Amino acid sequence: MPGTREGRRQVVLVTGASTGLGLAIARRLIQEQCDRNLHVVLTARQASLARFQNHDIVEQDNLWIRALDVTDAQQRQAVVAEIESELGGVDVLINNAGVAYRSCVEHVTEPERLHQMNINFRSPVELTRCVLPGMRAKRQGKIINVSSVGGMMAMPTMSVYSASKFALEGVSEALFYELKPWNVSVTLIQPGFMRSDAFEKVPYTIMSAKASADQADPYHEHYHYMERFIESTMHRAPATCDSVAAKIIKVMRQKSPPLRVYGSIDALAFSLLRRALPRRLYNWFLYRNLPSIDRWGKR
Ligand SMILES: NC(=O)c1ccc[n+]([C@@H]2O[C@H](COP(=O)([O-])OP(=O)(O)OC[C@H]3O[C@@H](n4cnc5c(N)ncnc54)[C@H](OP(=O)(O)O)[C@@H]3O)[C@@H](O)[C@H]2O)c1
Repeated sequence: MPGTREGRRQVVLVTGASTGLGLAIARRLIQEQCDRNLHVVLTARQASLARFQNHDIVEQDNLWIRALDVTDAQQRQAVVAEIESELGGVDVLINNAGVAYRSCVEHVTEPERLHQMNINFRSPVELTRCVLPGMRAKRQGKIINVSSVGGMMAMPTMSVYSASKFALEGVSEALFYELKPWNVSVTLIQPGFMRSDAFEKVPYTIMSAKASADQADPYHEHYHYMERFIESTMHRAPATCDSVAAKIIKVMRQKSPPLRVYGSIDALAFSLLRRALPRRLYNWFLYRNLPSIDRWGKR
């Protein structure tokens, strides 16, 4: 990276770093700091900043903690402007912050859909736009976007989440080509299920919360069986936030990282399945393997 060559510390900016995968990335970066001459900028929403102290992560000379709601344009610009004036710019941007609404398409209102798209798609793109002039000027940089298996295949009850990650995948793929001439890399990390408590934090839309709780709702079985399936799969998942974070650190070390990196073995398996089976068979296979599918839509 240019920072290393010029003796400047390489600056890494992480969003949504106070919990889950973001916190695991933060911990790995802190471990790496001395060896690799890094300046780490961890960000989280104002209300979540206190969590860093609970994890014994406090500001130091080469570790900044800043408030950043990724949907807030002023905060995005302020963080990047401060890094540019004090540290010479961002070398690695890790767009990790994200939410995963659980809802069937019929149960998402437009404001809810826009909210989901705003956090998972529009905001990482806008933050990327803030750091790109600096990276192009230095002819070096890395954009690492945390996608998901949901960005390569869609699951029922995860409609807007998949839409947001598919959109992130599309824009990242175009960026990968656009930025190559400036030696700026773009990588999508695709985790499958991670063993974590993220399942308990999944937000519902107003209508999907009602449908999930109401046994008389026509979509009740969709939610009931998918919730149980996702919860048990997450509890049994071999991948953890830390194992995915390790893959992200590996991408940071690579001179020319690939566009897509599987975050876990299930992501690789789904990708192979998708490529190996004819499209119609693939869709039929997934449909038939949905949990208790014969009980769905019987009302
Ligand atoms: N968990 C999985 O199995 C899984 C699988 C595939 C992909 N992923 C992806 O991995 C990334 C991290 O997810 P996770 O599992 O670590 O979930 P998580 O524990 O819920 O963490 C999500 C993080 O995003 C932050 N965030 C949400 N809205 C934000 C906003 N407007 N501005 C700034 N930060 C915001 C949250 O902050 P607050 O605490 O302040 O809300 C939190 O720190 C996401 O992009 C997710 O889509 C997760």
